[in-house]
Amino acid sequence: MNDNIRSVWDELKRRAKAAADSQIVDLFEREPDRLARMTQNAASLSLDFSKNLLDGKTLDRLIDLATAAELPAAIEAMFDGAAINVTENRAVLHTALRAGPTSTATVNGKRVAPEIARVLERMRNMVDDVREGRWTGIAGNRITDIVNIGIGGSHLGPQLACEALRYEADAVPRVHFLANVDGGEFDRVVSPLEPASTLFIVASKSFTTAETRLNAASARDWLAAQFPEPQTLARHFIAASANSERAVAFGIDAANVYPMWDWVGGRYSMWSAIGLPIALRLGMNNFEAMLAGAAEMDDHFRQSPFTTNLPVLLGLVGLWNNNFLGAESYAVVPYDERLRALPDYLQQLEMESNGKGATRSNEPLDTAPAPVTWGGLGTNAQHAFFQLLHQGTRFIPVDFIVALTHPEVRRDHHDMLVANCFAQAAGLMSGRTTAVPDGTSDGNDLSLHKEIRGNKPSNMICMHALTPQSLGALIALYEHKTYVQSVIWNINAFDQWGVEAGKMLAGDIVEEFKSGRVDENHDASTAALIKSYIESRKS
Ligand code: F6P
Repeated sequence: MNDNIRSVWDELKRRAKAAADSQIVDLFEREPDRLARMTQNAASLSLDFSKNLLDGKTLDRLIDLATAAELPAAIEAMFDGAAINVTENRAVLHTALRAGPTSTATVNGKRVAPEIARVLERMRNMVDDVREGRWTGIAGNRITDIVNIGIGGSHLGPQLACEALRYEADAVPRVHFLANVDGGEFDRVVSPLEPASTLFIVASKSFTTAETRLNAASARDWLAAQFPEPQTLARHFIAASANSERAVAFGIDAANVYPMWDWVGGRYSMWSAIGLPIALRLGMNNFEAMLAGAAEMDDHFRQSPFTTNLPVLLGLVGLWNNNFLGAESYAVVPYDERLRALPDYLQQLEMESNGKGATRSNEPLDTAPAPVTWGGLGTNAQHAFFQLLHQGTRFIPVDFIVALTHPEVRRDHHDMLVANCFAQAAGLMSGRTTAVPDGTSDGNDLSLHKEIRGNKPSNMICMHALTPQSLGALIALYEHKTYVQSVIWNINAFDQWGVEAGKMLAGDIVEEFKSGRVDENHDASTAALIKSYIESRKS
């Protein structure tokens, strides 16, 4: 931490001590402009962060912190295509994927926009062919079902978008997701389908991910059982990958490989050819509308002062709660069934990006980055983990996300859904501190059991409607929030060495299962587990 950052950081620590004794509700009394200042709008989203244990002066200091961390230069570096992924010496240009043909972003002196436009054009042709029935299977059948085989960033974003925008989809093609290597999942997803009308997408940036390769191989066998002809794969398999050689070696027709690039991180890749399932399900126009919504948020992030900049503010408030008020996790609670997959998506985005222990210059971190991201769906979560939020002793901020309108005209349902969302945020903040009239039972004092102390922070993110544009903006908001925090923590948000190491671990053990020989270098516990599995394989 340099001296400039250290001095603001220390002042924020002092402010946090004072904040610990204050009440959010009192801040509304003390700061008449609080709501106006702490509600900002951009790209069809509104962020109200006024229900945080944060006063206006602290917000000013947090903005000073972002400036001291040279966030403005870091934002420009990302958009320009500088190699900000320092451990892999790569640019990070998911923003270029949605910036349109005039984008000036370059990698190694070469503009990337023309190549992106070419891939989008190829995607459009293929998507239209499938959706309009010109692309047929080996037996001449129309494609009715698409199976996306991919995991992590090659799964979570496309699944989120397909679910979130289901009202924009036509009846066919249906899109299914096969991520887990669990054979039961293969049977659940693939077995009910008709091979003649099924198209597989192997989505893998590296094309080396073991789960994806095994699922893809099993899908290839499943198809071959009915259509052994060598031409089958060309009609039923496509790939989205930065490793076209491996995709072709697997048997995918080179004409069916849709490229992505090493300057697109896996968890930032739904805007690339990895988004093909979204485009196939919703049509290319909707996919491009989603890109446009994200681009609107990109422009806002790049151009707006920090006082009105949604990703910067969301990042700073999260950092305040985490590093200064001691929150070790935060909950994401969308009040919209269509956003069911959002907490999972954000878990990868935030925890794979910022779950790090070293600074960009390879020193140990002296701050704790990346709180645990978790969450669930409102109102279901109210009947599950909200008890802990209201009365547990942990300090857990919440991001509420809600659309004010819903395409289904069921007014009573939407009224109740939105009312619950607003009420929970209000209740977490205000609590119930008045004397509890029924505080006794059989002479026992239950007042503490029934007391709701409140003073629990939350953000409220509202949109008028959940559309391709607003979804794109919402995801870009969280992408940039993640980047903002990484810059202040001084970490590289774009590598994942821990996961890479984890990917190696299972391979050797699988070989031991097959050979029946246990490596003597295992610890005793692991060796016993492997032996017990080898035994169970014999039955
Ligand atoms: O989970 C680790 C990871 O490397 C993610 O970053 C990535 O999204 C996922 O694996 C899948 O990787 P690939 O697209 O290369 O198959």
